[in-house]
Amino acid sequence: MINIGLLGFGTVGAGVYSIFEERKDYLELILQEDINIKKILVKNTNKDRKVKVNPNLLTINEDDIFLDEEIGIIIEVTPSAEDAYRYAKKALQYNKHFITSNKALVSAYYEELSTLFEQKDLKFLYEASVGGAIPIIREMKEQIKLNEIVNIRAILNGTTNYILTNIYEKNISFYEALTKAQDLGYAEQNPSDDIDGIDSMRKIRILSTLGFGTSIIEDDILVNGIGNVSSYDIETLKQKGLKVKLIASANVLNGRYEVSVLPTAISAKNLFYNIDYRKNIVSFTGDKVGELSFIGEGAGMYETANSVLSDLIEAISNEDYSSPLRARGFQNGISGLKGSFYIRISNKMIDIPGDYIKEVISEENPFVIITNEIGILDIMDNLSEIGKEDYSIIKIDE
Ligand SMILES: NC(=O)c1ccc[n+]([C@@H]2O[C@H](COP(=O)([O-])OP(=O)(O)OC[C@H]3O[C@@H](n4cnc5c(N)ncnc54)[C@H](OP(=O)(O)O)[C@@H]3O)[C@@H](O)[C@H]2O)c1
Repeated sequence: MINIGLLGFGTVGAGVYSIFEERKDYLELILQEDINIKKILVKNTNKDRKVKVNPNLLTINEDDIFLDEEIGIIIEVTPSAEDAYRYAKKALQYNKHFITSNKALVSAYYEELSTLFEQKDLKFLYEASVGGAIPIIREMKEQIKLNEIVNIRAILNGTTNYILTNIYEKNISFYEALTKAQDLGYAEQNPSDDIDGIDSMRKIRILSTLGFGTSIIEDDILVNGIGNVSSYDIETLKQKGLKVKLIASANVLNGRYEVSVLPTAISAKNLFYNIDYRKNIVSFTGDKVGELSFIGEGAGMYETANSVLSDLIEAISNEDYSSPLRARGFQNGISGLKGSFYIRISNKMIDIPGDYIKEVISEENPFVIITNEIGILDIMDNLSEIGKEDYSIIKIDE
């Protein structure tokens, strides 16, 4: 009998439980094991829950799970990275495999946890931490066996994609689009991790560290969210046949990597152009396999739980396990990132060097230009003279 301890019974946890109950017989058949969710850790055992569960399974005492020697697998689907880190360390201490959907945890402690679990011959699995339903971690692990991954491009945050699509399609303000997303439960009440690009940054950090085989930490990544992108910007670029997306991008060449999360304007010939509303996409290029692209729901109860349970199947399958991470010591080359940019400044409060300017869209109030190919850090340096709320910058990547 394989016993599982489930930490969390919110959106993802309840989804895991429902799918597990529905598919249990078939899973037991193909895995040739009896499987059981033995205990579920929650914050409040008296809460009214949409997915009904035997109240005897619920506990607020984590030791009911960690000290139970019959439980061999932990599924962690709780919100806080710090609590989840403590649970991961306890799983190690008590020799339990660990499956998580918590991208904040994986991003903050990726190398450390991968190494520690490997040393104890335990599995550390995190498919649901990137791209919701999209089976991208498994595919990346498969392709790095034969390929050097040279680039990754992705839309990894459904909330920001939903907001940008709504502004584009319905010509509403950023505030209206955000409020709509919150009313529908697609954005958190405090949406800053999504809007500021932090959520996308964590996911591209995980993907690029795995794909490139070198440690790319959060601080290495250039992040600019969509907080300053206005409906004016989206409409102006729409007139030019371009649509704005929050794109996470990672390239490696000659041992130097550039990883960024930037609002990016793309044309209809770009594969990402029709990835609208809450959809996510991940494309990566391997030197043998070429470009592979994966599209799916980036979040959601069953979609995310499906990825968690695919990890459960992997944990139970008796494959030998070693961490897929490598430490090749590549260098951060973000200072070399160049591109053409759309820049809007509320008033023309700074001087932009003439040779930066390819096209002036509006002379004043606001001052709007498209630049020639320039270094992003150079232009960010210029813009740092004015307040963040007074400008927007969007990469143009047709
Ligand atoms: N929602 C998605 O679509 C999605 C997609 C990808 C990844 N994720 C990640 O999956 C994780 C879970 O997300 P969610 O949306 O399911 O969250 P959620 O709906 O807020 O549910 C969190 C669950 O964890 C319990 N909990 C809260 N703090 C806890 C703690 N310190 N220790 C133990 N249990 C605790 C809560 O207990 P009570 O029920 O008693 O309040 C609740 O059952 C997060 O890390 C999130 O980033 C979510």
